[in-house]
Amino acid sequence: MKKEDLQKLLNDMSLEEKIMQLVQLPGQAFEDDAAITGIAEAEVSAKVKQLAGSTLGLHGADKLRKIQEEYVKNHPHHIPLLFMLDVIHGHDTVFPCPLGQGATFNPETSKKGAQIQAKEAAADGIHVTFSPMADLVRDARWGRVVESTGEDPYLNGVMTAAMVEGYQGDNIADHDHVAACVKHFAAYGGSEAGRDYNNVELSEYALKDQYLRAYKKTVDAGVKMAMTSFNTLNGIPSSGNKWLMRDVLRKEMGFDGVLISDWGAIGEMVPWGLAADLKEAAHLAIEAGVDIDMCTESYGFNLATLIEEGKIDEKLVDEAVLRVLNLKNELGLFEDPYHGASAEKYEKLTFSEESREVARAAVRESLVLLENKENALPLNSKKISLIGPYVDEKNLQSSWAITCNADTNVTLRQAFTEAFEGTDTELRFANGCTLLDEDADLGFFHSHLDNFEADNEKLLAEALEAADFADIVIMCLGESAFQTGESTSKAEIKLPEIQLELFKKIKATGKKIITLIFNGRPLDLGNLPEESDALMICFRPGTEGGHGIADVLTGKFSPQGKLPMSFPYCVGQEPLYYNNFNTGRPKPTDRYSAFTTRYLDCPNEARYPFGYGLTYSDFEISEVTLDKAEMKKAEGISSASATPSLYADGDKIVATATVTNKGKVEATQTVQLYIRDLVGSRVRPVKELKGFKKVTLAPGESTEVSFVITEDMLAFFTLRNVFETEAGKFKVFLGFDSATENAAEFELK
Ligand code: GLC
Repeated sequence: MKKEDLQKLLNDMSLEEKIMQLVQLPGQAFEDDAAITGIAEAEVSAKVKQLAGSTLGLHGADKLRKIQEEYVKNHPHHIPLLFMLDVIHGHDTVFPCPLGQGATFNPETSKKGAQIQAKEAAADGIHVTFSPMADLVRDARWGRVVESTGEDPYLNGVMTAAMVEGYQGDNIADHDHVAACVKHFAAYGGSEAGRDYNNVELSEYALKDQYLRAYKKTVDAGVKMAMTSFNTLNGIPSSGNKWLMRDVLRKEMGFDGVLISDWGAIGEMVPWGLAADLKEAAHLAIEAGVDIDMCTESYGFNLATLIEEGKIDEKLVDEAVLRVLNLKNELGLFEDPYHGASAEKYEKLTFSEESREVARAAVRESLVLLENKENALPLNSKKISLIGPYVDEKNLQSSWAITCNADTNVTLRQAFTEAFEGTDTELRFANGCTLLDEDADLGFFHSHLDNFEADNEKLLAEALEAADFADIVIMCLGESAFQTGESTSKAEIKLPEIQLELFKKIKATGKKIITLIFNGRPLDLGNLPEESDALMICFRPGTEGGHGIADVLTGKFSPQGKLPMSFPYCVGQEPLYYNNFNTGRPKPTDRYSAFTTRYLDCPNEARYPFGYGLTYSDFEISEVTLDKAEMKKAEGISSASATPSLYADGDKIVATATVTNKGKVEATQTVQLYIRDLVGSRVRPVKELKGFKKVTLAPGESTEVSFVITEDMLAFFTLRNVFETEAGKFKVFLGFDSATENAAEFELK
């Protein structure tokens, strides 16, 4: 439909029809088996069902075509329904969780994954995915860090923009693409104490200079929808925060898409104490510019009254409806309400060899090797035992892969059996213990628990036997898939006690130990690093988990993943992140420094820092050289939000270093560029990631790696409350992780 015809359609719609376009129903209103990702409200009337503009949680081409056919036929203006679903890191073919994708430091990988997810979801009837999550996360206690690509604004920005490009392509009317929805706006990752639905206290400086940068990158990538977050920002729930939504998101950041609330978030302004009732909540939300009310009765039952009482102008409803109609039009739904949904196409697409290969490669890239003493890896033994609850665990996805059938995931047992088929290597497998402690609480996911009645004595005996047989033991440990994701915050971030007990008993056998960790967050690894000959972080690897891990452990591929979030010595260090401030009394290296910023019982630094990860080889990097020591400052340039190429015509400096593979095998290293602004009108982080490049080198091979430093990289939210650069000295670091001190200085003058 032509855009001008949308206005005609709007003018022709009754007030009731317009308001109902802003109402999203839970999928249960249409089908019982819809995915429940929120608190489902009361029954809805046939009338509401006939006029509501969208629904979420449903999938299935035939089912959705049938619902759509009925809906369009009965709608007074035959306006199609929007189908939305959380396709976070996989629909059928499940990719590494976003935190694992962050570890790839490869936006191309995320883009390819998103393209495949969009194809599968679109064929299955979905129009919009509630992804990517661009929340900056710094607190491992929060279960939803699994859905983020980590603690760095730059990394999150490039990764989530790539996901938007993958989901949406050049035209969302194309039947292999869906509309993307960036969430949770804004700053949900700063939720107090790492708990969901909690308060966020942030200065405008922290908000704009750190937390909003990645969302902005998705807006610049053309994301079609944004979702409000459950948290308050400095006392105002996001769904009622007019400044945040209209001034910041729409005006400063230039977002012109549809703004949807999170599930129930408009109604939750009442328990928050911002609104006395749903009518006031509806008033605050429509004023703030929230277009769609996800699953509450606020808009549907109150907007008409608010207009009749003269409390809001009908224009506010019209502008919201026009944005919703525009999204439906961009999806081509007026021409094809089914958006090409086809069971036949879906069957052909899902789990295709090509999709599996892309997913398998993503797993390999996401694995982070933290320890490898005396080159314990790659495996080099004829008698190998895999021991631990992850030997056969099928739930290798995160709890947000809601359409994933875990039976389709490749387990470690399956992959290792395949990998060593027909060789003279003998394998043994033993689960050793249950995945979870007896008293584990999985909250909403508790129904996913099984085999609690396992005979742990028997499991242990089998494990000791398997250890006795082997020259090398692979311990397959991890937190449950259902201890990560929404409403899974944890005050303790260690592995289950029962797994640590098993590890201790296997360690006592004196065998060489390779430890694999399946996790959705940074963990307190206790003494596992010291007690393991090698230790690798696997995150939530998804469908091809077993295959990708076997590919790396057998040495077919060298690991190359880098930590997207810092790993602490203990949970007491949380929130923990590398790009922090120096303070007025930075802690010197000596242990007993008095009156400096420190703990008595724990280092300040991460146990394993952001950007850290080993390969099977050994890389060296030369000192940093700059092609000049001064960058000419452009005058009179600033912007309200972090804007790319603000200084496109500005001066540049080239930073170079030579990287050499000093080891014995070909491997891929990720060279990282960090910059520090030594003095600013506000204090600046000790380092900030501003670029990275992957280099694959053969043994003995060297290559020059250069980065063009632009003035854009130096812009920040200054005391003048705009993004701009300030003259002064800067340090440029080039290294293999955020702890590098390999640096050179230049001056912006
Ligand atoms: C949930 C989540 C959000 C998700 C939405 C719809 O509560 O907070 O990330 O997209 O509901 O499922």
